[in-house]
Amino acid sequence: MTYITPISFAATDLNTFANTTGRLAVIVSPEGKLGVSARKLNRLTKGAIHRFIQSDNFKNFKPSNIISLAWPSGLIASSLDIVCLPRDHSVAQARNAGAALAKLRGKECILLALDGVRRADEIAFGLAMRDYRFIDHKTDAVLNDGAVTVMCTNPKIVEAAYAPLLAVIEGTFLTRDLVNEPANVLTTNNFANRLEEMSALGLKVEVLDEKELEQLGMRTLLCVGQGSESPSKVVIMKWDGGQKNITPFALVGKGVVFDTGGISLKPAAGMEDMTMDMGGAGVVAGAMRALALRKAKANVVGIVGLVENMPSGNATRPGDVIKSMKGDTVEVINTDAEGRLVLCDLLWYAQERFNPSGIIDLATLTGAIIIGLGHEKAGVFSNNDKLCNAFLKAAATEGEGAWRMPLGQSYDDMLKSRIADMKNIGGRPAGSVTAAQFLQRFVKPETPWIHLDIAGVASVTCETELAPKGATGWGVMALNRLISDFCEN
Ligand code: BES
Ligand code: MN
Ligand code: ZN
Repeated sequence: MTYITPISFAATDLNTFANTTGRLAVIVSPEGKLGVSARKLNRLTKGAIHRFIQSDNFKNFKPSNIISLAWPSGLIASSLDIVCLPRDHSVAQARNAGAALAKLRGKECILLALDGVRRADEIAFGLAMRDYRFIDHKTDAVLNDGAVTVMCTNPKIVEAAYAPLLAVIEGTFLTRDLVNEPANVLTTNNFANRLEEMSALGLKVEVLDEKELEQLGMRTLLCVGQGSESPSKVVIMKWDGGQKNITPFALVGKGVVFDTGGISLKPAAGMEDMTMDMGGAGVVAGAMRALALRKAKANVVGIVGLVENMPSGNATRPGDVIKSMKGDTVEVINTDAEGRLVLCDLLWYAQERFNPSGIIDLATLTGAIIIGLGHEKAGVFSNNDKLCNAFLKAAATEGEGAWRMPLGQSYDDMLKSRIADMKNIGGRPAGSVTAAQFLQRFVKPETPWIHLDIAGVASVTCETELAPKGATGWGVMALNRLISDFCEN
């Protein structure tokens, strides 16, 4: 059960403050100028807000800081939260102010008095995004949190502006749920079923089984899942919100529901993290959900490869040579470099079937990208400056870290094989670049393409501005904005 904070928007009513239970929150700018709501609350608390502004502490009152007065006299609220937001704030500052409130709250209701503060929709967005939790496997957890009311000057206008943001929240939460879900629950079958349910939103969802994948010649994808009891699947989600004659934009995702490494088995320590190795497919699913919910005026196709990389008597061996759908042969030196084997067939399939105007693939592809960029930024590889710059701009606007990495012939040379057309690894140096280079061999030169290596950003051990620990949903916001900027104009 996905929990989304219920937020309603109402006109400012100063008379309700004295009788409000739960948390009462109000915005104060670092300049210390009070709006009508803050002035009213200041009167009700006999000057508490004013005394705070006069105090030394106020000098350290920085954007998204909150000063909480517990059980303030003059109110029946459990807390009066004074939230810092400059009058001249950015989208990110507005979101972070809302997120800061979500971090504080227990199960109480929140009444947030914004008066005419700009970007009320983005403040609400930040609050809901940060209020995510994954409690499906906590037997004692109940979802009876109090509602949030945002009081503002134009509630109808703010509510309308919030609607498309709510679609992004729902998409992001789907991604987070999928990435957080353990692999005994999120099997390939379970994943495919969840995606099929999205046909209720108007998406056309198709599931290809092993027999059909075999017929298509997707041998490199199939060779990854052949050691698992769970059948490999490819799921195609189509959103046709644009003009009929325009070819779709394609999103392609790595969906390894668990990555043991296969016969090239990973060490035990940390292997449990490989439950998030379907993160690319998770972002594709979340982005498609957001586009469908906000009825995007664009044609977009999402394609995910769902496989489990397990060792077994019929698993792929190191040294095996496999023929891809494209026809090129791959010598599998290391069965733990499996993501690229899944993606190369998907990339080829996407181009052959849809002739897309562009492709973005997403994958938790390499540990090396974490060494290079940490958990701050995803690695961005592209053959097309225009598309790449549009993506980087969208990611920057949404506050999702992204950094362009190089591609080049000398990196490609590292994939040469003695007996086949290529090897599936290039060695330790530039591991993320050679992985991207492998993928590029399956991208036609005329297809604008971006590869996003999200191994470092899909799931993190520290909380971020807009997400608690665990799955972040990185990329849903940026992809949604890119489609809006690039395809909907
Ligand atoms: N799924 C892993 C990459 C990964 C590592 C994701 C850490 C998230 C966190 C990928 O399939 C993998 O095993 N890559 C190998 C490639 C190597 C064998 C060339 C790696 O990065 O070690
Ligand atoms: Mn692997
Ligand atoms: Zn993997």
